[in-house]
Amino acid sequence: MKAEDLAGLSRWFAAFVENERALTAIDPRPMDLKARHTARVQQEILGIGKAIGLSGNALLLAEAAALLHDVGRFRQYRLHGTFSDARSVDHARLSEQVIREEGILDGLSPREEAIILEAVRLHNRREVPGDLDPETLLHVRLLRDADKLDIYRIFTGIYSGQEAPDPVLVHLLPDGPEISPEVVARLAARRIVPFENVRNVNDYKLFQVGWIFDVNFPPTWAAIRARGYIQIIFDSLPGSRELSDLRHSIFAFLDERAGKQEGAGGDTPLPQMGDSRLNP
Ligand SMILES: [Fe+2]
Repeated sequence: MKAEDLAGLSRWFAAFVENERALTAIDPRPMDLKARHTARVQQEILGIGKAIGLSGNALLLAEAAALLHDVGRFRQYRLHGTFSDARSVDHARLSEQVIREEGILDGLSPREEAIILEAVRLHNRREVPGDLDPETLLHVRLLRDADKLDIYRIFTGIYSGQEAPDPVLVHLLPDGPEISPEVVARLAARRIVPFENVRNVNDYKLFQVGWIFDVNFPPTWAAIRARGYIQIIFDSLPGSRELSDLRHSIFAFLDERAGKQEGAGGDTPLPQMGDSRLNP
């Protein structure tokens, strides 16, 4: 893959978004949110990729996967009026379908095309299949990490009150003081929370905390820690002894994983939002 290929894909993407925007009969602004998300996931994937030592073709492939991962979102919203996969279609599958229909990867090698399609298709899966080849797995993992970083950014903006809750984003869950014990138990065992266990807004926030157990690269954990995403989520939850214990255990995990990249000294400045290492 060449830089011109990526530039061509970017032009296609801009025209595609404009077209879907023009075709929708409802408020097109939620689509703009997804376009901005895409641009940030591209930046995040470059940041993580460079931090783990990738260059050249690998970075181009990673950025192409990030650019295309949510193209299905635009059609999902236009056709179904929602970003809820549960109430419409699997948007990652739809992204794959749009990419195939439009033939936009035809100029790449079949291998490159297969890697991008696989990363796109698997970006929202609860689990990544165990039988992927190492190069495909790398790209699947990069995209999942980059996507999570931006989703944390979006939601912590809402939880900290900096951003207005978006009605399309907010899941229609009851908002009260409860926290489901099985959700806390899963996190204490350092396991992701299945979405079926989410019964209210607090559970949903903890479900998002659990994503740290599904992160793949030390620079991603380092960014999550340095940007305070997990702190903001806990600060938005009700205070209790149980949650304060959980918070300690979660931060211990984050420190463990984030620190791997920096060695024992750990005095390397951590990447922040806006840091060139994460937002080149
Ligand atoms: Fe997505």
